[in-house]
Amino acid sequence: MLKVAIIIGSTREGRLGGVVGSWIERHVAQRDDMDADVIDLAATPLPTVLPQFGQPPSDPDALTQLAKVSPRLAAADAFVVVTPEYNRSFPASLKNAIDWHNQEWHAKPIGFVSYGGFSAGTRAVEQLRQVFGELHAVTIRDGVGFNGVWGAFGPDGEVTDPSADAAAKKMLDQLAWWAQALREARAARPYAA
Ligand SMILES: Cc1cc2nc3c(=O)[nH]c(=O)nc-3n(C[C@H](O)[C@H](O)[C@H](O)COP(=O)(O)O)c2cc1C
Repeated sequence: MLKVAIIIGSTREGRLGGVVGSWIERHVAQRDDMDADVIDLAATPLPTVLPQFGQPPSDPDALTQLAKVSPRLAAADAFVVVTPEYNRSFPASLKNAIDWHNQEWHAKPIGFVSYGGFSAGTRAVEQLRQVFGELHAVTIRDGVGFNGVWGAFGPDGEVTDPSADAAAKKMLDQLAWWAQALREARAARPYAA
């Protein structure tokens, strides 16, 4: 089984990120090739003050917070990043979680589920592709994007447009291919950054 960490990137009060994250979690759970681990950055907040370069944080509380997230990222074979668009980009909470880590991302694939008021979060995703390139990760071509996210989910948490379900399957199929291929490659020859 491939271990897929689903990262819910928004932490805003009253956010829709939880609804979007639960929907893609159900997609992952339905598959017979993936196990999901939901990393909700609202439930497991990370410190916002980074340590000195190459040093662990000096604040013991920071270590406690990181211990709830970092080992799960390290254990993942692949990631699904659930991100809204904020001011043509992705939320600071997500960037903070990315920047706290480095090798955890290396040689692993990342798929995106994005959403926004009018852009389906595509501008957030394009910027994330650049960021994850710096971290030696592989981003998946096809993703899922919700335009007008306020109307994209019914009260039951399911999508109002079933084409999103097909898009999720396509993205997860591609993610699985890369996750399997890269897991085998990392096992055969450790990735040298
Ligand atoms: C600070 C802020 C900035 C936003 N900027 C954009 C934007 O640039 N493009 C867009 O399509 N939607 C934008 N929106 C709408 C959000 O994408 C939408 O409200 C979404 O639900 C936010 O995710 P969340 O509910 O998980 O916090 C913005 C929302 C907020 C709170």
